[in-house]
Amino acid sequence: MKTEILSILRQTKGYVSGQELCERLGVSRTAVWKCIKKLQEEGYEIEGINRKGYRLVEIPDVMTPSEIENCLWQKRKAEEITDSRESGCAEKKDPELPDRHILPYRVLYKDEIDSTNTWAKREAEMGASEGSVLVADMQTAGKGRRGRSWSSPSGHSVYMSLILRPDILPERASMLTLVAGLSVAQAVRDDLGLDAWIKWPNDVVISGKKICGILTEMSLQMECINYVVIGIGINVNLKDFPEDIADKATSLCLEKGENVHRAEVIAAVLHRFEKNYFRFLKHGNLTDVKDSYNEILVNCGRKICVLEPGNEYTAISGGINEKGELLVTKDDGTKAAVYAGEVSVRGLYGYV
Ligand code: BTN
Repeated sequence: MKTEILSILRQTKGYVSGQELCERLGVSRTAVWKCIKKLQEEGYEIEGINRKGYRLVEIPDVMTPSEIENCLWQKRKAEEITDSRESGCAEKKDPELPDRHILPYRVLYKDEIDSTNTWAKREAEMGASEGSVLVADMQTAGKGRRGRSWSSPSGHSVYMSLILRPDILPERASMLTLVAGLSVAQAVRDDLGLDAWIKWPNDVVISGKKICGILTEMSLQMECINYVVIGIGINVNLKDFPEDIADKATSLCLEKGENVHRAEVIAAVLHRFEKNYFRFLKHGNLTDVKDSYNEILVNCGRKICVLEPGNEYTAISGGINEKGELLVTKDDGTKAAVYAGEVSVRGLYGYV
């Protein structure tokens, strides 16, 4: 009921009377008042005035399940309205999807955790279902790719891990990392209006600097996927970075010039992800998402430097294929499909 009250307050510019809340939710005034009190304790500034009712004055930068679910609910609702307006009928579906697909997200939040990926793995081992989303304000042992650590101070960033149980071959699971990267880049572009790009395979960059890193881990059982954990770290309101990454990293806030609400960012990513995920599942590969990916792939059609262990060469990037491999044309005209694994690419000048 707390989530419903919050939704109503969010959608209303002025005051909502206590009576209206009681009628819409079919509960007593005391029940409404208790929920309002709980929301105030969580940091929502809600004004209550006799004979006028309640008004939401300020939304705190919290990542509680109710805040994230509320933001997500609003995005789904807004899309439903747009779809039905465009088609003139309430039943209109996204034409590219067989049906409107909704991932049954279930958000869990902790102020502090070792790593949301490690937490997600523990939850998945205990049976957590597909769509479980583990979010923390701070990580004490945040993990990056290739055994690196991921700096994870509190108060400014998003650290989240998503549990999936796709019915696909294990060798296809790494493609989900690209699906997640695409979803983050699209969310940042569409919801914040920032010029975000993907650096193959899955970093998201703005102005040539990284704003997001993704770490995918998988557990197998009898050669089948038991679960996949996709860990996403986004620099949201960070203004200072450790010295070693200061010239390669930026944040949404630095790029936008104002603080950004973290729950909105998470909801935007989840909203994008569910569409891309079902497109991915349709073929079990990137056939239906690769065009969207290549459109915002940094350096697509340009010269890049391919860094293979013990082999470094320049080539023209031609975007990804349906397996997520980067298609390149080497300087001697030969073509190759580069598999992410141990390989990385960069532009001719610097990180991007
Ligand atoms: C990279 O090296 O670029 C990947 C970084 C991934 C960081 C995220 S933060 C949330 C999740 N939990 C972790 O411990 N790592 C990932």
